[in-house]
Amino acid sequence: MRILYVVGTRPNFVKTAPVIGALRDRDPEGRHAIVHTGQHYDRLMSEVFLEELGVPAPDYMLEVGSGSHAAQTARTMERLEPVLADEKPDLVMVPGDVNSTLAAALTAVKMGIPAAHIESGLRSFDMTMPEEVNRIVADRFSEWLFLHSPEAVTNLEREGISGERMHMVGNTMIDTLVALEGRFRAAGAAAQQGVESGSYVLVTLHRPALVDGPLLGETVSQLAALAQQQPVVFPVHPRTRKMMEGLEPDAPGLHLIEPLGYLDFLSLLADAGAVLTDSGGIQEETTYLGIPCFTLRDNTERPVTLTSGTNTLLGLDPAAIARIPALLAERTGAPMQPPPLWDGRAAQRIADVILG
Ligand code: UD1
Repeated sequence: MRILYVVGTRPNFVKTAPVIGALRDRDPEGRHAIVHTGQHYDRLMSEVFLEELGVPAPDYMLEVGSGSHAAQTARTMERLEPVLADEKPDLVMVPGDVNSTLAAALTAVKMGIPAAHIESGLRSFDMTMPEEVNRIVADRFSEWLFLHSPEAVTNLEREGISGERMHMVGNTMIDTLVALEGRFRAAGAAAQQGVESGSYVLVTLHRPALVDGPLLGETVSQLAALAQQQPVVFPVHPRTRKMMEGLEPDAPGLHLIEPLGYLDFLSLLADAGAVLTDSGGIQEETTYLGIPCFTLRDNTERPVTLTSGTNTLLGLDPAAIARIPALLAERTGAPMQPPPLWDGRAAQRIADVILG
């Protein structure tokens, strides 16, 4: 089989690495070509991830870089089209919900090439999120839909998508986490940041709704206040770093650091007392690891992390950060079972479906 994998951003690499590995192992004679769109391009946002995940060097680098949604998506489509024309794949694999996902799914369908969507069926029902638009388009036009969450079936059925296209395979991001567990448990990232295991709140914030407007200043003030009670470690995404210029407070317990490689990040995540985030993937990783997660959004496309996980929605409200110590004290700490099929074997199931 000839398969082309299109990745562009940090979470794409994490979700696709095990799928590339499983399909290469099971079909070594096949063509497995990797296209990196270049949506993320800083070494810490891209190369370091590919190295740590053991992803082979991409066969194509499209170098689309940053830009408006239309410009980034259009550039990706324009540069991907000739690659698809040359490679003539039987299948284009697209993960997640970023602009690279949208561009790859659209380019493939317009060229009559079947696409497969990893992480299909998630919905926040919030059309102001760029990712929601990307998910809907990728699902509408992909022939194979790989699901990891029970509500995905209902969401897709509601959109009139036939059950034949849906395959409940489990969570490939958790495959990666399971595969890296020995290494990240030994990484000791908390000590490197000068914080004690279990004592700190790990923060990641990068969604436009939070960081591209006035809420960011208020958030930083709240984090500075929280840091007076317990250490706060915040690896700052480049989008957030740009918007934060001039806002950095002088708060000794607030560690504003560069983005981390994946092993160091997972090490900090696994040893955190709690996590504050607006990321989707981190809501899932904390659920699997049993770490309390507070999500600074009004909604989540991953409700399974609320019902069978450790996630709490705080709302898009920086003032809610002040509630974290009390919410942590109230937790019963009852052990949780991760959702079904979040077991490290999702990529094998995808290979079963594709190779039959
Ligand atoms: C993108 C995805 C988001 C995902 C996130 C993961 C879309 C619409 N958004 O958001 O769903 O959760 O990736 O991290 O696809 N930048 C750099 N270096 C880089 C990459 C970005 O400096 O390597 C800066 C640039 O200033 C850029 C900004 O970050 O303009 C935003 O990058 P972009 O890829 O447009 O969106 P993200 O916020 O990273």
